[in-house]
Amino acid sequence: MSKKATLLINNQEFDFPIVLGSENETSIDIKNLRSLTGGVTTIDPGFKNTASCESKITYLDGEKGILRYRGYSIEDLSNNASFLEVAYLLIYGNLPTQEEYKKFNDDIKKESIVDEDIKKILEAFPKSAHPMGILSSLTSALTAFNPSSKHIDYDRSKSELYDTIVKVLGKIPVLIAWTFRKKNGLPLDYGDSSLGYVENILKMMFNKPNEQYVQNPVLVNSLNKLLILHADHEQNCSTSTVRIVGSSHAGLFASISAGISALWGPLHGGANQAVLEMLESINEDGGDTNKYMQKAKDKEDPFRLMGFGHRVYKSFDPRAKIIKVATDEVLNDLGIVDPILDIAKGLEKEALSDQYFVDRSLYPNVDFYSGIIYRAMGIPSDMFTVMFALGRLPGWIAHWREMRLRNEPIGRPRQVYTGETHRPYSPISDR
Ligand code: CMC
Repeated sequence: MSKKATLLINNQEFDFPIVLGSENETSIDIKNLRSLTGGVTTIDPGFKNTASCESKITYLDGEKGILRYRGYSIEDLSNNASFLEVAYLLIYGNLPTQEEYKKFNDDIKKESIVDEDIKKILEAFPKSAHPMGILSSLTSALTAFNPSSKHIDYDRSKSELYDTIVKVLGKIPVLIAWTFRKKNGLPLDYGDSSLGYVENILKMMFNKPNEQYVQNPVLVNSLNKLLILHADHEQNCSTSTVRIVGSSHAGLFASISAGISALWGPLHGGANQAVLEMLESINEDGGDTNKYMQKAKDKEDPFRLMGFGHRVYKSFDPRAKIIKVATDEVLNDLGIVDPILDIAKGLEKEALSDQYFVDRSLYPNVDFYSGIIYRAMGIPSDMFTVMFALGRLPGWIAHWREMRLRNEPIGRPRQVYTGETHRPYSPISDR
């Protein structure tokens, strides 16, 4: 017997089907609520209890701290896979065969040429511009240089969509590396197609003129891991943005540019920069973690413990666990002693036994330790969120593609209007 939910509105009963997910998540299907009830809607600011779609990409259990991409655990993938394999998995549903992987890799390499005119746009930005602002603008500009990717009709042009996907994965790392080099006053680097994806990104970022760039396997492994950990996180703020922008049939570059803007905010991807700035200011203020714990708990004080708390994780963020171990490995390997790491560990220790944080299930999230690794790699804090965006590309692409394949309707929420009721206009002379 199929399951249903019954809603009693003004003494009248209405039945709604129950949708079950593959891990038995239960959701009430209210698609027909307005038509059955004569206009009743639901209200859920921040979508705290609303599933906006059905998706086969990522499974997340916030209570148990489980994260899986297409059924594979994040621990397994981040320890064993390459970022491009994970990208393929997220986008197409299965791990690639050797042949599929080679083609995907080769096609991405072929598409990693960026139009010379994009450089002129990059040059026009002031040196003080935030890298996320530059990245979102340049990503949007890519639409102009790749007109065929503007509005893809999926049914008619599967190959066009494939071309656009490999363009995104080929060109955006170049934009990121160029943004980094411009900020550092370095000449732009065109990469090396004989290198692996992650190695090439490192070379494009850090290669110095007249020097042979030497790959450090510790940095390659840790960047590969960080990118995998960031690759998808189901219906988060930026991914929902990408899906909703794409639902108007806007193209992939335009939708991803919107996703980059959504990621920038400090409550989302921008938290990694905010965490490091917070840790630095605690350090400069004498390293008194308890003082900042008190500030975080004080409702009169706007200070929040950045890198703590999550909308869905209520036991621990599995990505934070992996990053914490990787942080120690990277710093040890590079022989770096960073006082900020001790402050981070001190804050975590205090928070885990503090009633305020325990009662609200606030644990370190993915952004709490990632900035410390990026810093050890020589990446400045205003580039952290850009690195997050690089990792999130496969997730945004996978969700955009899934949304178009499922022919989802345009995203257009309802509202509950609480403004003035009708009133007549009065001429300005009477006011
Ligand atoms: N420091 C102090 N108190 C907090 C914090 C924090 N970091 N996070 C949540 N709280 C409190 C909040 O004040 C509220 O208390 P009360 O119930 O007394 O009003 C309670 O915990 C619930 O918080 P909320 O803001 O209603 O929860 P939310 O699900 O709307 O927000 C969040 C989730 C991630 C935006 C929030 O925890 C936060 O602002 N954290 C800091 C920013 C951060 O680290 N963001 C990165 C998230 S992980 C990367 C990503 O995937 O985007």
